[in-house]
Parts: sequence; C-alpha cells; structure tokens
Amino acid sequence: MNILETVLYFTAFIANSYAADFCYDEEYCNPYSWGNKFPSCHPIIDQHHSPINLDQQMSRNMSLGALQLKGFDTVQPGEWTLKNNGHTVVLQVELGMEVRGGGLPGNYTTLQLHFHWGSNSTNGSEHTINGRRYPMEMHIVNMKTVYYPNFTAALEDPTGIAVLGVFIDVAEAESDSFSVLSNLVPAVAYKGKTAQVAPFPLSSLLPMNNMSQYYRYHGSLTTPPCSKAVEWTVYEVPIYISYKQLSQFVSGVYHSEEGAQRVAPLYNNFRHIHDTFNRKVHASKDAALLSSAALPVYSLLLCLAPVLSVGLS
Ligand SMILES: *[C@@H]1O[C@H](CO)[C@@H](O)[C@H](O)[C@H]1NC(C)=O
Ligand SMILES: *[C@@H]1O[C@H](CO)[C@@H](O)[C@H](O)[C@H]1NC(C)=O
Ligand SMILES: *[C@@H]1O[C@H](CO)[C@@H](O)[C@H](O)[C@H]1NC(C)=O
Ligand SMILES: *[C@@H]1O[C@H](CO)[C@@H](O)[C@H](O)[C@H]1NC(C)=O
Ligand SMILES: *[C@@H]1O[C@H](CO)[C@@H](O)[C@H](O)[C@H]1NC(C)=O
Ligand SMILES: *[C@@H]1O[C@H](CO)[C@@H](O)[C@H](O)[C@H]1NC(C)=O
Ligand SMILES: [Zn+2]
Repeated sequence: MNILETVLYFTAFIANSYAADFCYDEEYCNPYSWGNKFPSCHPIIDQHHSPINLDQQMSRNMSLGALQLKGFDTVQPGEWTLKNNGHTVVLQVELGMEVRGGGLPGNYTTLQLHFHWGSNSTNGSEHTINGRRYPMEMHIVNMKTVYYPNFTAALEDPTGIAVLGVFIDVAEAESDSFSVLSNLVPAVAYKGKTAQVAPFPLSSLLPMNNMSQYYRYHGSLTTPPCSKAVEWTVYEVPIYISYKQLSQFVSGVYHSEEGAQRVAPLYNNFRHIHDTFNRKVHASKDAALLSSAALPVYSLLLCLAPVLSVGLS
C-alpha cells in the first residue's frame, strides 16, 4: 500500500465503521478483514473455523443417528419475526423447540434460522461438498438450554451452540413451505425491516426423508465474532426451491436502509472455506458420501499410490 492508498483505506474504514461492523463486499470489512476488528475471526489464531469443504477425509461414526427435533413438526404458539439485519434474513422463533441426540452433548434451544446465498452468477452456500457449492444454505441456530437466554455464556462453551446446516438447491417446482418465507422477503428488503410470521412446522423446511444423513464437526460461527463454540450438523441431502424463490433472496435484499443515499444490494453473504486442519469430520451412520463412487481427487490419489509407495520404499 502506498501512502495515498493507506489514507484512502483508513478514511473509508472510519467513514464506514459506524455504518457496518462487518460486511461481505468491501475490502475493509469483508470476511478476509473480519480479524482486524474481531480477533477470534483471524484464521491464524485458532484452527477451528467454519465453513469447511466436506470431502472423503472423514470417518463414519455408527453411533450418529438422526437428531431429535422437539416441536419441529407442530405449529408453535406465538408469533415469529422475519428480519433483515443487514447481513442476512433471519427468522426469530419463540421458545418451544429443542434439538438433542445425534451425539450432541446436551439439549439445545432453537433461537433462529437464517440464510446465506450467492449472486446471479455464483452459488452461495457456506459449506461445500467435494468442492461443490450449493445455491443457498440455511442455518438453524440453537444454544445449550442450560445457558438460555445468555448467548454470551453459550459462546464461551466450545459446544455451547449447535447449528443445523441445510443446503438449498434449485429445481423446477416451487416449494410451498419455502414460499411462506420467500414471499415475505420483499417486506424485509431493507436493513432493519421486520415482518410477522405465523408459526409453521419447521420440519417443512428440512430434508425430511434423509434426516439421518449428515456430517458432524466442531467449528465456529461463520459471522463475527466467529466464536469457537459450534457443533455443526450439516445435512447431506438438500431441500429444493425454484429459481424464482432463489431470486427473491439474490436480487431482493439490501444491506442499506430504506431511502439510503447509496442503495446496497446484499448478495454473496457467505464466508470463504477454511482449512479443516486436524479436526475430525464424522459422517453419520446413514450418510452416503463415503460409499459414493470415487471422485476425481480421490481416484487421482489412488492412481498415484503405487508411484508414491515405490518412491518411499
Ligand atoms: C462417535 O460419536 C460419539 C458421539 O458424538 C462420540 O462420543 C464418539 O467419540 C465418536 N466416535 C469416534 C470414533 O470418533
Ligand atoms: C434433555 O432433555 C430431556 C427431556 O426433557 C431430559 O430428560 C434430559 O435430562 C435433558 N438433558 C440435559 C443434559 O439437560
Ligand atoms: C451451483 O449450483 C448448481 C445448481 O445446484 C450446480 O449445478 C452447480 O454445479 C453449482 N456450481 C458450483 C460451482 O458448485
Ligand atoms: C452471561 O454470561 C456471561 C459469561 O458467562 C456473564 O459474564 C454474564 O454475567 C451473564 N449475563 C447474565 C445477564 O447473567
Ligand atoms: C434419501 O432417503 C431415501 C429414503 O431413505 C433414499 O432412498 C435416498 O437415496 C436418499 N437420498 C439421497 C440423495 O441419499
Ligand atoms: C440478477 O439479474 C436480474 C435480472 O437480470 C437483475 O434484475 C438483478 O438486479 C440481478 N441481481 C444481482 C444481485 O446482480
Ligand atoms: Zn449462518
């Protein structure tokens, strides 16, 4: 950086740091810069970051069956709120749903769900499977019930948070259950906007035929403060929505407030992939990935194996 660039950089930083604590699209506040303001987001501080690429380097754990999702298949009382918080669209739910089992160390109270998406030309899931990025990813965020409602306390426990990650793919047909949320996106297009949502069974947003197929690893929040507090459950099979429903997110959400001078579309709100390092990634008993046909990188290694062993012997 030369002096002019440095001055411009810090001017931009100061001018904008009041407006946005973090962002996805500008150099001074994008995911590669989060560590400046949120030290625990710095990838060299710890080797616990999320998201990761899910590949064949995982071990099957036969004790990992389907999770118990209490209250997910009933209509909860009360009222839920859909909100644009400037980083995503989040559905805040009321008390009543709980997640446990599937090897999770405790009971977890469901707090909210939110989405990550791409652009017209890029997919936007946070986790990838064998390098494949899906169009969207939904995160259902739950905190250990013993800490409720102290989220700060949960963030200090390495297993204080359990997030369920669900890939969202695109198909011809519209998803009626997803419409409940996507049709409300125009009402929360701008930062700070909220809309009331009548509770509906959250299970309608899940890959219900394949709930015992998932991956489990220990990682972080994928937004600041990137706390090392998350037991991740990433479901293997996606849910499907239409292209139009995807577009409601990709082209219909802003991280600026209504009437702001500079209208700023919100898209590509996903964090980059982090190294798995020596973390163990577990495949559940029924996950299919390990048994699927050999994929390019793997078969390349197999081809090289004889060469390598000759070299080593
Ligand atoms: C399998 O998962 C259970 C529950 O999370 C865990 O206690 C156990 O250590 C895991 N087994 C292996 C071999 O990693
Ligand atoms: C989790 O909830 C179940 C059912 O309410 C209860 O029996 C169990 O003791 C709870 N576990 C913990 C660790 O609190
Ligand atoms: C993006 O998503 C589409 C639809 O699922 C898929 O066909 C494509 O392979 C994905 N692209 C990448 C780069 O992963
Ligand atoms: C929440 O937990 C934090 C960390 O354990 C603690 O410092 C704080 O006092 C707690 N807040 C409340 C309101 O109990
Ligand atoms: C989802 O589950 C069904 C029923 O068990 C199974 O037939 C199907 O192969 C699974 N889908 C995938 C993609 O694994
Ligand atoms: C995506 O394409 C549509 C149609 O061309 C356009 O209206 C929209 O602004 C684009 N969205 C983004 C985020 O570029
Ligand atoms: Zn998320």
